[in-house]
Amino acid sequence: MMKALILWSSRTGNTKSVGQAIYDALPCEKDFIENGRYKGNYDEYDLVFVGFWAFRRGANMEARNVLSSIHNQKVALYATAGTYPDSPAAQNYLTAAAALLPEDNILLGNLILQGRVHSFHTNTRNESAKKVHPLTPERLKRLQEAEKHPNEEDFQRAALWAKEIYHQAESITIKK
Ligand SMILES: Cc1cc2nc3c(=O)[nH]c(=O)nc-3n(C[C@H](O)[C@H](O)[C@H](O)COP(=O)(O)O)c2cc1C
Repeated sequence: MMKALILWSSRTGNTKSVGQAIYDALPCEKDFIENGRYKGNYDEYDLVFVGFWAFRRGANMEARNVLSSIHNQKVALYATAGTYPDSPAAQNYLTAAAALLPEDNILLGNLILQGRVHSFHTNTRNESAKKVHPLTPERLKRLQEAEKHPNEEDFQRAALWAKEIYHQAESITIKK
């Protein structure tokens, strides 16, 4: 029987809720732990999901640290981002996160979903913020779409994806 570890990071709850959907979907023994708190040994697990939120064009820092510390594992990445999941930017976040994984791991797959962007990030509070992130009509539209996510459909997608990853993991053996 497999044992899975579902790691997550979340500043405003989006990624944690997706991680929870993944956790609930897996038909095996499992743990659900925050990236920043996980100092343990990966050896007791057969499959590790690492969740992150998009931060400055990559994964948030706690997730980056975890990603570079995993060895000899079957790994899957999931994330939420303010930007559209099918955009090149979103795919780049996944690629950047995957690049942190040491090469002795097997990356089974990844999933990125949109997540509402908290007002502390969207507020154009001062002149310099306006210059970095001008609120163009396009950006406003993107943020308004992000407001609706993650939603029930996203959670169902995450659950389905997690089960596929699980079945894939069952058929692969890693020597430890
Ligand atoms: C400081 C900060 C930086 C962010 N940077 C990005 C980014 O570079 N690209 C992006 O698509 N979203 C970015 N976002 C949006 C978050 O990734 C998005 O809202 C995510 O769903 C938050 O997840 P959480 O609720 O689990 O914290 C940023 C949000 C914050 C607060």
